Amino acid sequence: MYRIGKEEIDAVAKVIETKDFFKINNSLHEAENAEEDIKKIFDVKHAIMMTSGHGALVSALIAMGVGPGDEVIVPAYTYIATAMAVVAAGAMPVIAEADETLTICPKDIEKKITKHTKAIMPVHIQGFPCNMDAIMEIAKKHNLLVLEDACQADGGTFHGKRLGTIGNAGALSFNFYKIVSAGEGGALLTNDKNIFDRALIYHDSSAVAYFGDQLSDVDSMLFCGNEYRANEILSAIMREQFKRMDGILADLRANKKYISDAIADICEIVPSNDIEGDCGTTLPIRFESYEKACAFANAEGINGTVPYDTGKHVYKNWTPIMTKTGALNPLMDPFKMEANKDIVPDYRDDMCPKTLDLLSKTAYISINPDWTKEELDAMVETIKKALN
Ligand SMILES: Cc1ncc(COP(=O)(O)O)c(C=O)c1O
Repeated sequence: MYRIGKEEIDAVAKVIETKDFFKINNSLHEAENAEEDIKKIFDVKHAIMMTSGHGALVSALIAMGVGPGDEVIVPAYTYIATAMAVVAAGAMPVIAEADETLTICPKDIEKKITKHTKAIMPVHIQGFPCNMDAIMEIAKKHNLLVLEDACQADGGTFHGKRLGTIGNAGALSFNFYKIVSAGEGGALLTNDKNIFDRALIYHDSSAVAYFGDQLSDVDSMLFCGNEYRANEILSAIMREQFKRMDGILADLRANKKYISDAIADICEIVPSNDIEGDCGTTLPIRFESYEKACAFANAEGINGTVPYDTGKHVYKNWTPIMTKTGALNPLMDPFKMEANKDIVPDYRDDMCPKTLDLLSKTAYISINPDWTKEELDAMVETIKKALN
């Protein structure tokens, strides 16, 4: 979370004063209003506010018809929740390499496609936009669905389009670590009415048919799903956060550019698929070795991180995935299901060597949107000293 203040406090107070917090049939309709805000800001036909980004990913996969017998290609560098969403849908995550940009490698996606592949999940990790042109072309060529995991990239763009709106569906997260946040929360975005209808049912299956008039325009049959219904307080906070979003992004991008321009001649900045659309949260620098990346990240005043050491963001640390433990009850475990018996992947720690190499030779500097010119200049000096 970057910015929050009186506007959010007032919005929450208004909801509390109504004593009426349930999403449907209430006084303020903040969840529905937040969905309308998203539709306008992201230029997308349908949006569903949810309790989490993971909930939005699972709902999207189910709504896209992904299930047992299907493979879904995910990047080797993403938070474990991406791969877990695939398992929650009953399908098998197939892990693809990252490329120089640290986002999923389109060439490796093509190598990983089999007759069982149903979908690709590009992840705009750290707010770095994936090469959506290449990914959409591959999807078209092989008749695959695309679910964008934009959980680390709220509001970012690729060639002018908001991340999460280019594929068949997209997911945002509003948890504490995100660009805009209510502590927890998420949203599903799609231009596809069929995906929207099914996700609407899946994300709130106990209430959607019984409260209000939510299914009047829905064509899908009813089925048992989950409970990811957003509440009014979360939604009221997010409505204020959406108003701040483009300002936060503009300041993050400007500060990232200021520092990048000042150091571009003395280090290798990791390339971007679209620097204009990049969220600007992280400045990635490439080094010759892991040791050099660590030395830089740990240098005085840098407060950096080496993505290789960011735990559950690196596939080899996805313990329940790597050990193929898809559920507590073995009968519900997709890794043990009959429908998946021919497609259970052979996960190995060294299966994506290029990703591990790139992650180990990179160091991140976190960008603060509220740095003053003096603080930026001081940061540039600190970085120059650490690079020496
Ligand atoms: C890439 C990615 N996908 C999915 C998620 C899940 O989001 P949430 O925590 O809102 O469920 C996260 C959360 O950090 C994430 O970073």
